[in-house]
Amino acid sequence: MNMLEKKIKAADARIAVIGLGYVGLPLAVAFGKAGFHVTGIDVSPKKLKEIRSGKTPVIGVTDQELKDLQKKKRLDVMPEYSALKTADVIIICVPTPLSKSLDPDMSFILAAASAIADHLKKGQLIILESTTYPGTTEEVLQPEFEKKGLVAGRDFLLCFSPERIDPGNKRFELKDIPKIVGGVTAESSRLGVLLYQQIISKVMPVSSPRVAEMAKLLENTFRIVNIGLVNELATVAKDLNIDIWEVIDAASTKPFGFMPFYPGPGIGGHCIGVDPIYLSWKAKFHGRELRFIELARQMNSEMPEFVVRRASEILNDLGLAVKGSKILMLGIAYKKDIEDTRESPAFAVLERLAKQGAEIIYHDPYVLNAQWNGTVKSSSKLNAKTLKSADLVLITTDHTNIPYDIVVQHSKVILDTRNVLKKFSGHKNIVRL
Ligand SMILES: NC(=O)c1ccc[n+]([C@@H]2O[C@H](COP(=O)([O-])OP(=O)(O)OC[C@H]3O[C@@H](n4cnc5c(N)ncnc54)[C@H](O)[C@@H]3O)[C@@H](O)[C@H]2O)c1
Repeated sequence: MNMLEKKIKAADARIAVIGLGYVGLPLAVAFGKAGFHVTGIDVSPKKLKEIRSGKTPVIGVTDQELKDLQKKKRLDVMPEYSALKTADVIIICVPTPLSKSLDPDMSFILAAASAIADHLKKGQLIILESTTYPGTTEEVLQPEFEKKGLVAGRDFLLCFSPERIDPGNKRFELKDIPKIVGGVTAESSRLGVLLYQQIISKVMPVSSPRVAEMAKLLENTFRIVNIGLVNELATVAKDLNIDIWEVIDAASTKPFGFMPFYPGPGIGGHCIGVDPIYLSWKAKFHGRELRFIELARQMNSEMPEFVVRRASEILNDLGLAVKGSKILMLGIAYKKDIEDTRESPAFAVLERLAKQGAEIIYHDPYVLNAQWNGTVKSSSKLNAKTLKSADLVLITTDHTNIPYDIVVQHSKVILDTRNVLKKFSGHKNIVRL
């Protein structure tokens, strides 16, 4: 594999990225900016059209970056897998959601793997980045790639390297987040590490793909469990008349052995709530039930109901019922500073409130249109008139670019589920979760 090594070092290797979403597109751009030629392959004609016209479909990549790279002919995008034939490196970044029965939906990985197998040639390095259960790379990909006689380690190289990007996070961008690489052979790891070293400051090899796969699931299981814990404590703190946010601030002064997690309306997105289930699913084959994950899921899924109860208590104190009240939801993306609404807990809250007869309007600077109860709604303008017209303002996502001073000034009462109004504490119209 000396040839591939030379090509990687000279930024001469041709890289194909399969799946140009929140993970694949920033990665493709990073390699393009490092001088590599990158071909992005995606099944979504809409996404391909946007990228070709220099309009970024995801946060974390700018329009300018797409335009520059395409102008320099370092990035081209297409729906056909035929580009895999000429690739030296193939990176898989397709979705790994859950099926309706809450099992891993491996269909996207399987489709990508089958396309790669059809075009596989000697000397290629293939890397799976999609989050998945331990064993996927060795038990699913490797046999698929070896079925025509090529052998991993001898004829081609294969690694798993989890993506840890946090879309919208400006403090830790792709290049700053250490990368874990586990190859099916030592040579696979060595070249996988070399590749990522071209764009990422710290790359850590581990002994196998399984370790890398499980490391990613440990990270997200750690998050779901701790969020579940703090959500449970938030509900009990309310009963005890204790401010959970003050408790967390106090506990956070301990310089070791404590890491703050914060309560909220529940978890969303397609990582924290989904990834641990991949681990639970795999554990079941070994007769094991991962109880922490189940409990955390249950706890987190009860939060929207808790928020609705709090909203109803607040309206009740004002002599109002949920039915007929106008509620302005601030932020419906699943987390701050992004436009992604997948599995957003804000929808679980608003659907419950709407079902009880509340009139719901929303404002989200990132989500201009949203659909619930079968109709598409547009984000309302955030101004004094809108704020004053609402019986309750309910903050469900703590976007940083919302003018909270105006919100505090003009709202009758605000339920802040994220403690984003911390600096306004003392204002009588603010109620925390
Ligand atoms: N978004 C995150 O914050 C994040 C962070 C770390 C890891 N991950 C993991 O990375 C993986 C990708 O996530 P994402 O957020 O980028 O998903 P995404 O939905 O934003 O993007 C996936 C892309 O893959 C395309 N695609 C689907 N099937 C394809 C196929 N067979 N061939 C080519 N393209 C195909 C889709 O059209 C889409 O553009 C998932 O496993 C996810 O769990 C996501």
